[in-house]
Amino acid sequence: MLGIIGGSGLTQLANLDVSHREVVRTPYGEPSGPLTFGRIGCQDVVFVARHGYGHTIPPHLVNYRANMHALQTSGVTQTISIASVGGIRGNLGPGTLVVPHQIIDYTWGREMTFQSGTEGPVVHVDFTEPYDGEVRKRLLDVAARIGEDVVDGAVYATTQGPRLETAAEIERMRGDGADVVGMTGMPEAALARELQLPYAALCVVSNWAAGRGDSVHAIKFASVESVLHVTLARVRKIIEGYCEQ
Ligand code: HPA
Repeated sequence: MLGIIGGSGLTQLANLDVSHREVVRTPYGEPSGPLTFGRIGCQDVVFVARHGYGHTIPPHLVNYRANMHALQTSGVTQTISIASVGGIRGNLGPGTLVVPHQIIDYTWGREMTFQSGTEGPVVHVDFTEPYDGEVRKRLLDVAARIGEDVVDGAVYATTQGPRLETAAEIERMRGDGADVVGMTGMPEAALARELQLPYAALCVVSNWAAGRGDSVHAIKFASVESVLHVTLARVRKIIEGYCEQ
């Protein structure tokens, strides 16, 4: 079964044929909301809205551990994260879809591991390639098959939020090698890896990051909603074409 974590602008999947909803409790607390079970295209899907169905949970307060744990215990075998990001690299302007291949974590103070007790030996999970290669490839293959342009590869900088970045912070991140910036990529990806749950992200560039493009003096929120509206329709098509092997 395919797990989908919907980000900003994607609190529902219009093309999800819903069978039921389930309130799930985990040892780590409650997920962002009830899990929605259903079918899209040829596959069974479980959906959770990362920020809650009413978009009330800010990035630093999302219970990432509960979301990932709930997905896994519901029988999910691979997960796609949908997330909006700001574009830093020159060719990643608003309306671009991108499947990142790397992460830089600038977050702090989040519950970022399932290893928070004293039981069991310490385990250092490999995170050299933070996203699952197979899930990334399938996303890119589906997009190519249905004729949707998706950029293959980007370094996703995860910031703490909820405030946006300063232009100087973005400049520093660019120096670090970051291509896009968002607030939810971590610890989500690392937790998926701890659970050995194949996970990849499909990111929607909703705006130029601070100091770039038309965000030289401020981020233009007026256009974000319309960009998300158009681009998330493309995301839905890709998910519809994505069939678990
Ligand atoms: N910065 C951080 N997170 C974001 C942005 C941004 O510019 N756009 C969408 N999520």
